Amino acid sequence: MSPVTSTAAPRPLSAARCEGLSGRVVVPGDKSISHRALIFSTMAVGESRIEGLLESEDVLNTAGAMRALGATVERLDDGAWRVAGVGTGGLMEPETVLDFGNSGTGARLVMGLVGSHPIAATFVGDASLSRRPMGRVLDPLRAMGVEVIARSGDRLPLTLRGPESAVPLTYRLPVASAQVKSAVLLAGLNAAGTTTVIEPVPTRDHTERMLVGYGADLTIEEDETGGRLIHLVGRPELRPQALAVPADPSSAAFPIVAALIVPGSEIVVEGVMLNPTRTGLFDTLVEMGADIAIENERLAGGERVGDLRVRHSRLTGVTVPAARAPSMIDEYPVLAVAAAFAEGETAMLGLEELRVKESDRLAAVARGLAANGVTAHEGEASLTVVGGRGAVAGGGRVVTHLDHRIAMSFLVMGLASARPVTVDDTAMIATSFPDFVDLMTGLGARFQTAEESA
Ligand code: S3P
Repeated sequence: MSPVTSTAAPRPLSAARCEGLSGRVVVPGDKSISHRALIFSTMAVGESRIEGLLESEDVLNTAGAMRALGATVERLDDGAWRVAGVGTGGLMEPETVLDFGNSGTGARLVMGLVGSHPIAATFVGDASLSRRPMGRVLDPLRAMGVEVIARSGDRLPLTLRGPESAVPLTYRLPVASAQVKSAVLLAGLNAAGTTTVIEPVPTRDHTERMLVGYGADLTIEEDETGGRLIHLVGRPELRPQALAVPADPSSAAFPIVAALIVPGSEIVVEGVMLNPTRTGLFDTLVEMGADIAIENERLAGGERVGDLRVRHSRLTGVTVPAARAPSMIDEYPVLAVAAAFAEGETAMLGLEELRVKESDRLAAVARGLAANGVTAHEGEASLTVVGGRGAVAGGGRVVTHLDHRIAMSFLVMGLASARPVTVDDTAMIATSFPDFVDLMTGLGARFQTAEESA
């Protein structure tokens, strides 16, 4: 894997062993729901209000794209966001390229949205996003009549030109991907007729739940194997919404694993979304012996949420089945860190999609573990981590390849390892969790910049 670097000067950071973490924190709003809230509000007729929107680079890029496509998107004085939508079929042709930065979710969902409108739009992204496969979204769009002008291998930058009238599609997902499912459904919003997505393995269901909330005619059938058929009737009039975005379980994962591995810790992470299509990491950690108690369970923004009280725990290695991967697809790097402190081996299966995330996460995690004295075996689509019974040497420098979750995971590792762990760049953390360092410092974490450690 050749390193992917940003043009900006890298910002390395080290994390050092600390005393027990303590306190109550709220992590920012869910990234998946934040992107969708902006996109669906753009498709509604009238003004939506979004509270708790994740104000990270990825989501702000989607906000910029919605503006370029004709919506009014603004942050209000009280911190909520107002989106005045254009209605299904009402997108304007953008005058500028749509820049999605590091975000696969933003780029892929908006490709679906734009694809069924009779406009042309050019999609660009950073070095990481420009290496990620887009054919998984472009293939169904081509079948709906979308013209694609792309580099060979279907990578960004690329231009889409939608047909006068997109044809609805019945599409069986070839990969377990909520992004692909969502892109096809978003394209189906402006197709004349019913679009059906067949999902053999269920993935996060925010698009379906939110589209119903916005008033779309969307129905779901389950087949005998647990798969799902999602039917969406095109050209609905979507109603504007007032929504509150619940806290992101994928961001909560970092303080939670930190509290589990740093002796003496007890923290509470408040209001974490507990949608079962997202909680695979918590299930796995509990199987490993983690002391995680759900308190004050309630409904917020149409989702089940709870306060998670987490205490330092002695963890034991487990086998994480491939079937669980979609419900924790972004959490394997931080699970690998927890596994490094466990007793025994943790085997993670069905990880092929990790190879095409913001970096090749399977390779990046395996190398980061090795650099810090942890034995791990990297398979084509699996990772086995040999736990150190609470002890990890650390002292390594981790290459993050423009990947926010690699950076945050290995900083968490440094909080409990014998010697500090350094990550080569933290700039990308701003794509999903801009306050990560401050929030963790507030719990008692210790970080040092290169200048401070000199
Ligand atoms: C997301 C889906 C997942 C996940 C990404 C967010 C979404 O990607 O990794 O961070 O919001 O739909 P895939 O659908 O490609 O697995």
